[in-house]
Amino acid sequence: MPAKSKNVFVCSECGYESAKWFGCCPGCNEWNTMVEEYRTSPSKEKSNGAVSIGGIEALTLENIADDTEQRYSTGLNELDRVLGGGIVKGSLILLSGDPGIGKSTILLQICQSLAQGLNVIYVSGEESSHQIKLRAKRLNVNPPMLKIMSETDVQKIAEYLRVNKPDLVIIDSIQTMNFTEVSSSAGSVAQVRESTNVLMRVAKDLDVPIIIVGHVNKDGNIAGPKVLEHIVDAVLYFEGERHLSYRILRAVKNRYGSTNEIGVFEMTDKGLKEVENPSLMLISGRPKNTSGSCVACVMEGSRPILAEVQGLVTPTAFGNPRRMSTGFDYNRVSMLLAVLEKRAGYFFGNMDAYINVVGGLKLDEPASDLSVALALVSSLKDVPFRDDALAFGEIGLGGEIRTVGNCEQRIKEATRLGFNRCIIPYHNYKLLNTADFDIEIIGSRTIRSAVEAML
Ligand code: TYD
Ligand code: MG
Repeated sequence: MPAKSKNVFVCSECGYESAKWFGCCPGCNEWNTMVEEYRTSPSKEKSNGAVSIGGIEALTLENIADDTEQRYSTGLNELDRVLGGGIVKGSLILLSGDPGIGKSTILLQICQSLAQGLNVIYVSGEESSHQIKLRAKRLNVNPPMLKIMSETDVQKIAEYLRVNKPDLVIIDSIQTMNFTEVSSSAGSVAQVRESTNVLMRVAKDLDVPIIIVGHVNKDGNIAGPKVLEHIVDAVLYFEGERHLSYRILRAVKNRYGSTNEIGVFEMTDKGLKEVENPSLMLISGRPKNTSGSCVACVMEGSRPILAEVQGLVTPTAFGNPRRMSTGFDYNRVSMLLAVLEKRAGYFFGNMDAYINVVGGLKLDEPASDLSVALALVSSLKDVPFRDDALAFGEIGLGGEIRTVGNCEQRIKEATRLGFNRCIIPYHNYKLLNTADFDIEIIGSRTIRSAVEAML
């Protein structure tokens, strides 16, 4: 018997509910936040009292069967690493990123290896089967067990999956999926949420992994997927500048692994290629004997990565000095400039300052503070630093260079890439046995001494 349904309008900000739509939510006064939601009253069979208290139970951990989680390798090591070792059976994975970043491309590429032994279904609501075929041809993807479906009705898709029981499903994209019982248009919060719930049930019932693509809209908030983050098991973000060929894949949530691993890819004319040595890629092509450049070493998960930080300091033409930062937190640049003025005596008051991290990488670890400060000082003084030296350390408000974690791994990465000198926080230096390393290590307490060590 079909369930009785009623529609309500719910504010996506504060959860205010109403039978009527409002332009401005009476609960929180936000505009355009009321979205239509579809509610189903419990069906007869369930409310008949079939579920008794005796029907549920709680188990101790010992009594829960611990079948080892089964993972499918995607054939791309960088992606497997981000997922924590492969795709877990029965998991729901959200892959999001800006339109055109390469989500469909990477998913089609992993089909090449996955669909050798597994039944994979690629459901596309964006492209026709013919378009996908053309793309697969270009990417050299032609596995025997891949099936393509062009469909947007999520209930029909769920039915098909329940009958055909595939091993892996890809849904491209969740914004095009349509749940007919919800009247709002595809891509709306209610549609996206209901469609995901349907897919979630299929994934858990059949124990098949489902990968969902979600586009990020213009304001940086995902149109829909943000609401899904709590439903799905893993959320992967594809980042990168569209005009740069490098793409970084990051896990922001993972119920089956760590969230700080990243995967680095390069977009080529034959699809995405893994970058096995990201440090080499990020520091290649550095200008020689030019001021305003310093190499940083940050930890991305368990991997140390080197990146070039560039600073440019020029006299302000008029008005307030301009400060800009790409790949590094803007407010932290302001703080570093203040520390450099007050504690180290470098004056930027009438200077514009620009910071750029080469290659589209975002440095969010405080260990990159020292490199940013050094790049600014080098440009201010117009003195080029040694190009075979790098520096890392956190800068405190007192102008002190503070300890960082994973010091040895960072130094090893610097050695591996042919650097000859490493400037590190003094307290890290004290704990190291410098004879273990094949590189000159200098411990610095202050920014001034770090600047001298870079010359
Ligand atoms: P796509 O995977 O369609 O993006 P998304 O699904 O995230 O919206 O990627 C599209 C872009 O990738 C497109 O602008 C062209 C580029 N591209 C290549 O450079 N090489 C290729 O082999 C492919 C397939 C795409
Ligand atoms: Mg796409």
